Amino acid sequence: MGRRAVSILPLAFSSMDTLVFHTIAHNTPEYVAAVALRHAILRQPLGLAFSAQQLAAEADSQHIGAYLEQALVACLVLKPINPRQVQMRQVAVDVQLQGKGIGRRLVTHAEMVARQIGYQEMHLHARESAVIFYQRLGYATHGEPFTEIGIPHCLMIKGL
Ligand SMILES: CC(C)(COP(=O)(O)OP(=O)(O)OC[C@H]1O[C@@H](n2cnc3c(N)ncnc32)[C@H](O)[C@@H]1OP(=O)(O)O)[C@@H](O)C(=O)NCCC(=O)NCCS
Repeated sequence: MGRRAVSILPLAFSSMDTLVFHTIAHNTPEYVAAVALRHAILRQPLGLAFSAQQLAAEADSQHIGAYLEQALVACLVLKPINPRQVQMRQVAVDVQLQGKGIGRRLVTHAEMVARQIGYQEMHLHARESAVIFYQRLGYATHGEPFTEIGIPHCLMIKGL
């Protein structure tokens, strides 16, 4: 009995310990992979696709990927609002790896990056289904829910 408990927990932690974060430059093969992951997780289930115009408009954003054994498993986008505020967009974790702490680690990393750049406030438009995830990470909802890409969202903000 003791042996089983010891063998499962360290294995779970060591696989997470290999999670590494990289900044992804716009319009590189790594960016194309991130867009493919975002499409699979965030757009395809809604019957939507990114337009060339939407992707071109991301050139001013910072793209961050989380990699497990060099495979992209999660990503997000940081879009400047003004010198104080930045918007976290397009948070997506590979469907087979959701619920294992990767989203929490990716968002925490992105907050550190944003803080280092000098931002003081992180904003995001959370899908209703993800509001609890962001609340667990210290984000608070503001104002009334609104519709974006055809589904309900909430503005959520956290001081950095
Ligand atoms: C939402 C998402 C980014 C969360 O990442 P994840 O790796 O699955 O989440 P984690 O395992 O890091 O979860 C962190 C905490 O949030 C909770 N949580 C995660 N997703 C949740 C959800 N959809 N509803 C309620 N709680 C959730 C976890 O139970 C965990 O709680 P804990 O504090 O008790 O440990 C990911 O599931 C995803 O890509 N979902 C589909 C796309 C999406 O909705 N993106 C957000 C768009 S705004």
